[in-house]
Amino acid sequence: MSAPDLNINNLFSQKALLLEESPTFVLEKKADELDLLLRKDGDAVIRFGIGQPDFNTPDNIKNAAKKAVDENKTKYTASTGIIELKQAIALKFKNNNNIDYDVKNIFAGNGAKQVLDVIMRAFINSGDIVIIPKPYWVSYAQQVILSGGEPAFVDFTKDLKLNIDNLRYIVKNNPKKIKLLILNSPNNPTGAVYSRKELEDIGEICLKNNIYIISDEVYENFVYGTVKHFSIASFSDELKDITITVNAVSKTYAMTGWRIGYCAADLQVIKQMSKIQDQSASNPCTPAQWAAVEAIGGNQDSVELMRREYEKRRDLVYKRLNKIDGIKCSLPEGAFYVFPEVSGLFNARIKNAFEFAGQLLEQAKVAVVPGGAFGNDNYIRISYATSLEKIEEGMNRIENFCKGL
Ligand SMILES: Cc1ncc(COP(=O)(O)O)c(C=O)c1O
Repeated sequence: MSAPDLNINNLFSQKALLLEESPTFVLEKKADELDLLLRKDGDAVIRFGIGQPDFNTPDNIKNAAKKAVDENKTKYTASTGIIELKQAIALKFKNNNNIDYDVKNIFAGNGAKQVLDVIMRAFINSGDIVIIPKPYWVSYAQQVILSGGEPAFVDFTKDLKLNIDNLRYIVKNNPKKIKLLILNSPNNPTGAVYSRKELEDIGEICLKNNIYIISDEVYENFVYGTVKHFSIASFSDELKDITITVNAVSKTYAMTGWRIGYCAADLQVIKQMSKIQDQSASNPCTPAQWAAVEAIGGNQDSVELMRREYEKRRDLVYKRLNKIDGIKCSLPEGAFYVFPEVSGLFNARIKNAFEFAGQLLEQAKVAVVPGGAFGNDNYIRISYATSLEKIEEGMNRIENFCKGL
C-alpha cells in the first residue's frame, strides 16, 4: 500500500492558493521587525507604507460608541445595518453627493473592503471579467479572483488616469462576459481625481455595453486646491441605475479600526448582497455602527481640519520628490498618496521598484510600497498620512539614498 499523501496543499482550494498576500501588510511586518531592532538605538523606520490616517478618531464619535455600549446597544442588528445608520448614509448621499437613495438602497458592512467583497460575490460567475484600471488598489484584483472571476486591466496615461482608448479596446475585444468596472476616484495609489467629463466618458462606455460600475469613493473628502470630487451615480438616472457607490467611515473620520463601510445601489443588488451578508459576516459591530451614525450625521469640522493638514503634507512631499534627480512625480489631487516614477534610478543592483523599496527600507530605514503591488513596478507609493516632521525626515533619507545610487 502506498503512503497517504500528507501534503496539506492538496486540501486547500485553488482560489486560496492563488491568492496573494497583501503587500502593504507584508511590508509593515518587515518594517516592524526592523523598527524593533532600531529602537534600541533611538532610531526608527519612517513609515510611508500603510494607507492609514495618523489622526485619532474625533471625540464626538468615540463618545457615541461609549454611550451605545452603556445603553447596551451591543446585540445583533439587521445584517445590513441599523436603520439610524442607513438614514444618516442616505442623507449624506443626498446632501454631499447629490444622489437620491431610499434607506432600502443602503447596505452597511464591515469596512469598504468587506462591502466590495460582497459585491463581487453577488455578481461574479466563474470566468466573468471585471475591468480594473491600473494602477489599482491591491485588493480589487484579489477579490475578483477569490470570487472566481478574472481581472482585465486597463493601462494608464501619463497623468496616471485610465486610458480611455485602451478601455474601449478591451470592451470591444474581450470574448468573455464583462460584468463590472471598478472606478476609484480619488485614487489609491496615485491620488488622481477624475473630472466630470472623464467620468462621463467612462460611464457612456459602461451604459452602452451593459457593464455595472463599482465607484469606490472612500477618499472623496480629501481633494486639494480647487479640485472637486464627483460621484458618477449623480450624473443621470441611467448611470445611477448601473452604479454601486461604495464608501466608508475609515479614511474620512480616521476610523480604520472600527470597520464600518457602506454602499448604495439598486434594490435588486442590495437584495442579493443582503443574502450573502446574512449567511456570512452578519451585522457590522453594533457600537461601531452607532459611532458611524455620529460620524456621518454629526459635526463635520474634524474632516476639514484633516483635509487641510493632508494638503500641507501633499505639497511638501511633492516639492521634495521633484527635487530629486531621477524621480518623476505628478501632483496628486486627492487621497493621501503620491505615486512617483523611480525607474530613472534603476541600476545593476536595483532593477525594479520592489528592489528599490527593499533597499530603501534596509539602507535608509524608510518604508514605501513598490508599485508592482498596484500593477506597475516602475513606481513606488508613498503614503503621507503622517506628520510634517516625519515627512521632512523621510524625504531627507530618500534624497540621500537616491544620491548614493
Ligand atoms: C481605495 C480603497 N478602497 C477601500 C479600502 C478599504 O477601506 P476599509 O478600511 O473601509 O475596508 C481602502 C483601504 O485602504 C482603499 O484604499
